[in-house]
Amino acid sequence: MCGIFGIVTKETQNLGPILVGAGERLSYRGYDTVGAATIPQEGKIDLRKDAGRVQEVAEKYKFLEMSGDRAILQLRWATFGAPSKLNSQPHLDSDGDLVGAHNGNVVNNVELREEFTAEGMTVRSENDGESCVHAVERYYDQGHEMVEAIRMATHDLEGDYSFVIGKVGEDRLYAIKMGSGLVAGIEEDLTCIGSDLPSILPITRNILRLYDGEIITFWSGGYEITSVVDGSSIERDPEIAEDSMEAAQKGGYDHFMLKEIHEQSQVAGELLHLLDNSKDLNLFLNKLKDARNIYVIACGTSFHAGLLGSVYFNQFAGKAVIPVLAPQFTAQYGSSVGPEDVGIFISQSGETKDVLNAIEVAAEQSMGILGLVNVVGSTLTLVSEVYLPLTCGYEISVPATKTYTNQVLTLLYLALSLGGYKTSVLDDIPSMMDRTLDEVSKQIDPVVDKLIDWDDLYILGYGLTYPVALEGALKLKEITYTHCEGILSTEFKHGPLSAVSEGYPVIFTAGPDDIPLIISGINEVTCRGGHVIAIGFQDSRLEGNAQETIIIPIIDVPEEYRSAILALLSVIPLQLLSYRCSLSRGYDPDFPRNLSKTLTVD
Ligand code: F6R
Repeated sequence: MCGIFGIVTKETQNLGPILVGAGERLSYRGYDTVGAATIPQEGKIDLRKDAGRVQEVAEKYKFLEMSGDRAILQLRWATFGAPSKLNSQPHLDSDGDLVGAHNGNVVNNVELREEFTAEGMTVRSENDGESCVHAVERYYDQGHEMVEAIRMATHDLEGDYSFVIGKVGEDRLYAIKMGSGLVAGIEEDLTCIGSDLPSILPITRNILRLYDGEIITFWSGGYEITSVVDGSSIERDPEIAEDSMEAAQKGGYDHFMLKEIHEQSQVAGELLHLLDNSKDLNLFLNKLKDARNIYVIACGTSFHAGLLGSVYFNQFAGKAVIPVLAPQFTAQYGSSVGPEDVGIFISQSGETKDVLNAIEVAAEQSMGILGLVNVVGSTLTLVSEVYLPLTCGYEISVPATKTYTNQVLTLLYLALSLGGYKTSVLDDIPSMMDRTLDEVSKQIDPVVDKLIDWDDLYILGYGLTYPVALEGALKLKEITYTHCEGILSTEFKHGPLSAVSEGYPVIFTAGPDDIPLIISGINEVTCRGGHVIAIGFQDSRLEGNAQETIIIPIIDVPEEYRSAILALLSVIPLQLLSYRCSLSRGYDPDFPRNLSKTLTVD
């Protein structure tokens, strides 16, 4: 997720304050690099950009002094290419009279850069935003008009993206929406576009919604929309945006956590696109193939993803993968690992000190270091031999949701690939996530009512759903401040069963292959007066034995993948349950007390 902004005004004016303001509002979408360009009628484009946050880069390059009647701004959340000045956006074309910037991922970026170089274009960076500019240059230089060149460029650019582009000597800018956010704002003396509503709301409330497959050509006070499919013109009037700034930032959801829960299907789709086209995937897989022992090393939610991944590796690749909490790595394996071993270090932030400490020990022992990480440019990406980005964009709410599901999805993809299975079985995961979210959100409230009076409960899982039980329990305790423990269901009878009294809540996450075992566990609780809530596919045995069920819609995939995919989906009801329980207790789920999003301390 990156942020783009573009503006055309009636007259040349000082555009600096408008650019910096839009940059600040977009900075939640990416803070690795920042750049701005003003585009003159004659002469050179004024392009200023660098790695760093918007305030630093704007101050260093005096953005506030930038003037003109057309400008573009971009904030980058790095995926392709390190967060450096060279990879910062906007980018110029070969002879420097086109400038553009994008948001999203162009997944065939590496191949395109080779093609553009072979055709004699000047490719300066590794960044996929530059590929958008050269793709337009390619067709513009063949004699096509700008809009037509942009339309043709879409045949070359694979992935989900939007971009804005402008040319010296014109009075207009162009922007296209192909899967990533884009909205326009129209006033009498200016027109602007941005990646989201908050970026343009303080400039105008007269907004124009854009849809995938549309190109907008805009000039001061006017615009034209063209269909990418057939080049026809699309009529649409602007509307008045009523949203408050805060509501707009949350995308219409009450909290960032809920927004991020709903973003899971979209970021899963983007991740699958990226993995299908990733050059680093094979490097990663080769390291795993050759390893003597593989460890997954992480903390908190990321550890739970790693634990589930280790079950996937066993089931699909016949590979033992040893899960270990990062701070325990040194004590447990520090002296026994060596150059033949590989660690998959998993971290949303890439900065968790406990994980970096384990990496230090792994490096001293010359162990292979692989990363799964959301923040590209973080320490984990710098110290990994190979890393795979999670492509979730900025996760604002402290409880991790979309980064967890993309960690799990990456590990499932790796396990299937290593075991020689086709990963196309995962293509429908985004729509399965949406269906699950739709269906389970209707079933959560009665369970919330049951839990309101309890400050102590258990979540049990078995096999593939054991890590899900741990993750659900972490979410619940994190944002409801109740004591909630996740354990292996068969362990319950070895001690914790003594906690059960009349009405005591126990949640079971049930995989389709483990129903008989789960039913025994359920009855051990219900015969002692406990109140059981079962989560799983529709199954008369679950419905007949538990007091309540939350049913995940049946998925249409071959039998051998069903349990693995259920485990991925069954965290969704637990995320939603935690969210609604947090609200029912009057807490703010986005910012739970005592916790921080990035833990850079021991
Ligand atoms: C819980 C949560 C934490 C993190 C943990 C590791 O919702 O987010 O448990 O998973 O602090 O953080 P990262 O993944 O950044 O290393």
